[in-house]
Amino acid sequence: MQVANADAADLLQLADGVFAGERDPWANAANAAALVFEALPDLNWAGFYFLRGGELVVGPFQGRAACVRIPVGNGACGTAAARRETVIVPDVHAFPGHIACDSASNSELVIPLMSGDRLIGVLDLDSPKFGRFGPVEAALGEALAARIVAACDWRLAGIDGF
Ligand code: SME
Repeated sequence: MQVANADAADLLQLADGVFAGERDPWANAANAAALVFEALPDLNWAGFYFLRGGELVVGPFQGRAACVRIPVGNGACGTAAARRETVIVPDVHAFPGHIACDSASNSELVIPLMSGDRLIGVLDLDSPKFGRFGPVEAALGEALAARIVAACDWRLAGIDGF
């Protein structure tokens, strides 16, 4: 399979391409993290946390080694998971309970992965730039999240409730 360099405009198309015919969550999440990291400028971390054993456990990502387990409700990731809503953090240093995995991070975008009303996990993007993420990035991330949710058989991943 040939995968061209991604930019934001063709990210969703490339994601559909790498997901095609593949239902494995780890494979698709790994490729999705790689595509996002390449497509969006000024990221220092892009990847997934999945709900396993009642907490968020790090999944495939690009970037520096990260905190492994995040309780639902803690930090930006846990807040998005608890609220089941996208969280845009323009300045992580001003976000109560922010979990600093990489000191280079200054802003963050977290998008919950939902299958109906069931929480699968979150897609987390970090940037060294303040205010890197806004409604455009949130909409793109939500579209990618919807695609990966539909593309995978989540029973293969040991995720709570599947
Ligand atoms: N900053 C996140 C933790 C995950 S790392 O950024 C990869 C948080 O506050 O939930």
